[in-house]
Amino acid sequence: MLLIINAAQIVTMSGPIGPRRGKAMGEIGCLGKDHAVLMNGEKIEAVGPYAQVRKKTEGRQVQELDAAGRVMMPGFVDSHSHAVFAASRLKDFEMRAQGAGYEQIAAQGGGIKRSVEDLRAAPEKNLEVHLERWARRALSYGITTMEIKSGYGLELEAERKMLSVMASVKTPLEIIPTFLGAHALAKEYEADREGYIDYLCERMIPELSGLAKFCDIFCDEGYFNRDEARRILLRAQELGYGLKLHAEQLHHTGGAYLGYKLGAVSVDHLDCITDGDMKFLAGSDTMATLCPGSNFFLATKRYPPARKMIDKGLAVALATDFNPGTSPTVNMSFILSLAVNQMKLKPEEALVAATINGAHALALGRKLGSLEAGKQADLIVLDVSDYREIPYYFAVNMVCGVVKKGHVVFWNG
Ligand code: NIG
Ligand code: FE
Repeated sequence: MLLIINAAQIVTMSGPIGPRRGKAMGEIGCLGKDHAVLMNGEKIEAVGPYAQVRKKTEGRQVQELDAAGRVMMPGFVDSHSHAVFAASRLKDFEMRAQGAGYEQIAAQGGGIKRSVEDLRAAPEKNLEVHLERWARRALSYGITTMEIKSGYGLELEAERKMLSVMASVKTPLEIIPTFLGAHALAKEYEADREGYIDYLCERMIPELSGLAKFCDIFCDEGYFNRDEARRILLRAQELGYGLKLHAEQLHHTGGAYLGYKLGAVSVDHLDCITDGDMKFLAGSDTMATLCPGSNFFLATKRYPPARKMIDKGLAVALATDFNPGTSPTVNMSFILSLAVNQMKLKPEEALVAATINGAHALALGRKLGSLEAGKQADLIVLDVSDYREIPYYFAVNMVCGVVKKGHVVFWNG
């Protein structure tokens, strides 16, 4: 058993089951001093007043850790990333600094297509080593669960290679795999859109169904339109995938509505969301996942209207969108800083969005995202004495302890 004592605050995120939306996004279940968390095996056994929790350990063997007046909270659940890739995209980075836009860079052979070339050429072993390093970095920033998308292969074997790497990499980080074969049109099909969609629906989606929990699509101008997205997602749904969409990121194309109609687990980005979209999302369990790291890095001044979304009752999640093109970071605390500073969330809302709501954006809300008896023992300790300091100290890594499934990954006491 593992017992952690002496935190200044324990942000439990305890509360009713289900995505947290609207006002409830401000509820973080914060306990003050003299509380403790007890873990048994992979699960949390008790969270509560120290004396009560201590009693449960009588006659049992316990390892005790001292949080020394710091803040303890659930590990971050990063519900949107593209963490399997072969190389950075420095040319895009430099072009952008000189004023080029997303679509202009793509037209010059940069963008997703560049990463596809790099990925296809990379041996599986190299990708695994690369991912293992990034998984270690993600854990060091307090991410204990990370969704990762394929989508830099765009043909069966390269997509399979990406998903296999996610399954075989040795890391304590919990990886949730998503198939994103509809990330862009493969170059072999540039003159035959219909052919690529047939290939997705008839070959890739069926053959890879055992390797991915979700199927995602980039629904946007220049990528896949709403009708194409519907066909691809319906096929995936029929084969047992949960659904996710990159929706309303660059333009408004109706992806959020499609996701809502199909019962998608999440619709992501939503930079161009409309009031109408907000109305139906507020009445659904489809999570609105925001990726402000991409707004920061692309330096498009417009961030998604997150404040309005929460005020209208949407269940918002925050994710890193870690990828080599538009959001090269695994610093989830920085994502929270962007949420508070640029999108006007309250610190509490940002924390909810990156934990319990992140878990719901992966359909794992019953297992992850809060410190409650029966939940998986994934928690982090940060070197701050007030949880509001987590978004406040921007781009500084305050994480000093990580526990995953009841095992201490690291602990800098
Ligand atoms: O989430 N929007 C599409 N996909 C990624 C970008 C991936 C890339 O540029 O490599 C995103 O921003
Ligand atoms: Fe993305």
